[in-house]
Amino acid sequence: MKKISEIKTEKDLQGFDGYLFGCPTYHKDMTENFKTFLFLAQKAKLEGKLGGAFGPHTHSGEAPKIIFDTMEFVYQMKMTNLGALILKEREVETTEGLRACQAYGRDFGKRL
Ligand SMILES: Cc1cc2nc3c(=O)[nH]c(=O)nc-3n(C[C@H](O)[C@H](O)[C@H](O)COP(=O)(O)O)c2cc1C
Repeated sequence: MKKISEIKTEKDLQGFDGYLFGCPTYHKDMTENFKTFLFLAQKAKLEGKLGGAFGPHTHSGEAPKIIFDTMEFVYQMKMTNLGALILKEREVETTEGLRACQAYGRDFGKRL
């Protein structure tokens, strides 16, 4: 698990079998630093790698879907059939939220 601030160049993203990208939704969008990160990720040539996306939100939750679509259509990654994991903020630290994260991760691991 890495914070995007730790990823300085596209080389830091290479060499993994799968990628789960996550960002909360602010103003119905991703954060600015995450948008910058997606341009860096574009250079990492992730085509054919397994991908998924997640993020918390309170009411609309657009960011994970935008990220998921970018990974699928721009990077040409092989995306998990589960779609994006869009979590309500109030569920994140509940048993239900934890189980949803675990189920998403488990399914991703099986596909890998
Ligand atoms: C200024 C602001 C704008 C937000 N805009 C949205 C939004 O458009 N849609 C949404 O679903 N949640 C929105 N939220 C809620 C955040 O997505 C939610 O609090 C999330 O859990 C924040 O994650 P973080 O604490 O990891 O940054 C907004 C929160 C703030 C403070």
